[in-house]
Amino acid sequence: MENLQIAIHSLPVLLLGAGKTLEITALAVSIGCILGLIGGLSRLSKNRLLRFLGTCYVDFFRGTPLLVQIVIVYFGIPQVMRSFQDYLVYAYGITPFFDNIPIFVAAVISCSLNSGAYIAEIFRAGVQSIEKGQTEAARSLGMTNAQAMRYVILPQAFKRVIPPLGNEFIAMMKDTSLLSVIGFEELFRRGQLIVGATYQAFAIYLSVAFIYLVMTLSFSRLVDYLERRLKTGD
Ligand code: ARG
Repeated sequence: MENLQIAIHSLPVLLLGAGKTLEITALAVSIGCILGLIGGLSRLSKNRLLRFLGTCYVDFFRGTPLLVQIVIVYFGIPQVMRSFQDYLVYAYGITPFFDNIPIFVAAVISCSLNSGAYIAEIFRAGVQSIEKGQTEAARSLGMTNAQAMRYVILPQAFKRVIPPLGNEFIAMMKDTSLLSVIGFEELFRRGQLIVGATYQAFAIYLSVAFIYLVMTLSFSRLVDYLERRLKTGD
């Protein structure tokens, strides 16, 4: 019973962490949509260089663990920037201004870049799933390739990518727990801190799991509902 009490007492703190988890996820997936649109269209482009760059981006961020990307952004990039700054200080006598990337910023950057790579593949698949006849019809009406993409293909593709985008949101929501390694106080990190102070590992981590579950289930219901609403529009 004592652990139940501790779990109930720590609920407010955990819920604040859950808020952070949602905040980071929403930011990462939103920025990821922009990056994903650029990345996905680059991969479909006729331009070889664009295609190559798009593929490099997607391959790197999908082919390496998010955990490693997070530590590169938080510990690796600042180190390079500090060395560059040292050089500027030495060579030109500027006053140092940079020290570290704030944790929140590092969290948003790493998760957005990662999510963008997954979303690029979602968009690419969405565009490729639209029948070729649609482009041909648009072209025969005198549209340019870009116009056909903008006014005929993308609007249809957006509908098809809603379910996989919902999945990406849910996956990202769970994977933000990796941000605990840089000390970002999202849901899981808050749980760790409370366990550190109370030793109630079972009760606290179970509460953490339960909060994640409530968030993922509610979100997937929401996506199901959206999908049904969009279907009736067909
Ligand atoms: N768990 C995988 C990793 O560590 C995927 C992380 C990101 N997942 C996502 N849907 N954006 O690399």
